[in-house]
Amino acid sequence: MKQTILKITENTPLTPSVFRMRLEGDTDDLRPGQFVNIKLEGLFLRRPISVCDYDDGRLTVIYKVVGHGTELMSRMGIGETLDVLTGLGNGYDLDVGCQRPLLVGGGVGVPPLYYLARELIARGRRVSVVLGFNTASEVFYEDEFKKLGASVTVTTADGSYGVRGFVTDALDENADYFYACGPEPMLKALHRATEIPGEMSFEERMGCGFGACMGCSCKTLTGNKRICREGPVLKKEELLW
Ligand SMILES: Cc1cc2nc3c(=O)[nH]c(=O)nc-3n(C[C@H](O)[C@H](O)[C@H](O)COP(=O)(O)OP(=O)(O)OC[C@H]3O[C@@H](n4cnc5c(N)ncnc54)[C@H](O)[C@@H]3O)c2cc1C
Ligand code: FES
Repeated sequence: MKQTILKITENTPLTPSVFRMRLEGDTDDLRPGQFVNIKLEGLFLRRPISVCDYDDGRLTVIYKVVGHGTELMSRMGIGETLDVLTGLGNGYDLDVGCQRPLLVGGGVGVPPLYYLARELIARGRRVSVVLGFNTASEVFYEDEFKKLGASVTVTTADGSYGVRGFVTDALDENADYFYACGPEPMLKALHRATEIPGEMSFEERMGCGFGACMGCSCKTLTGNKRICREGPVLKKEELLW
């Protein structure tokens, strides 16, 4: 973990409520599935956001405006700086030996899968991605995943774009492993719908974000785990579902 000051180099809307922010500076070497914790003026608790992409001190995050903290982020401009804790959490396991991974993201669970897809494709894996949203105006990053070389399916709950329904209506049956991130009901449905092994990233509410307060502790088959420290990625077989 490192506390660092990063400079904003981009902060642009991708949809009416979802923004992409690019930041540059001195960070840890970040892995897919890790997160950063961002300090915002006047707020006691930092706000955790997943690493969407990372390359040599250049970090991309994608965030949805849901409250005061993310609203403050959306109003920041290029050249402004943020105090950020980087290198948090365990990240996805890239060494599971799968050949045809399936990446499943719902809403703001989509961003961490981008860096993951890039790394898996660089390792020669055949990557399929299912991106789930409520409606057409919320869809983002379909083209970005396609440009990486992934096979991409988009689902919308109201059928206004892509496949009508939920991510579980569009799973690639030839996949041999899955990686997921999204709201808990989506993760539970995916857990029930898949027979292959996999792992899921949880976006639990957090206190400190680095293992000190126990505020994010949850029970698993392999003991209590702090989502911020031993997670946010947990293996399917550890979950008490
Ligand atoms: C490990 C991790 C990674 C995350 N990655 C991303 C990401 O890549 N992009 C992104 O947009 N968001 C992500 N989140 C969620 C993000 O941290 C919250 O949306 C953010 O902290 C909200 O701050 P706020 O001040 O805008 O809202 P607040 O004023 O704190 O809350 C506004 C509303 O959002 C709800 N809320 C806040 N945090 C969460 C949460 N973690 N889960 C469910 N509901 C919540 C509150 O209950 C409230 O209803 C992540 C969370 C975690 C723990
Ligand atoms: S948020 Fe404090 S231990 Fe996880």
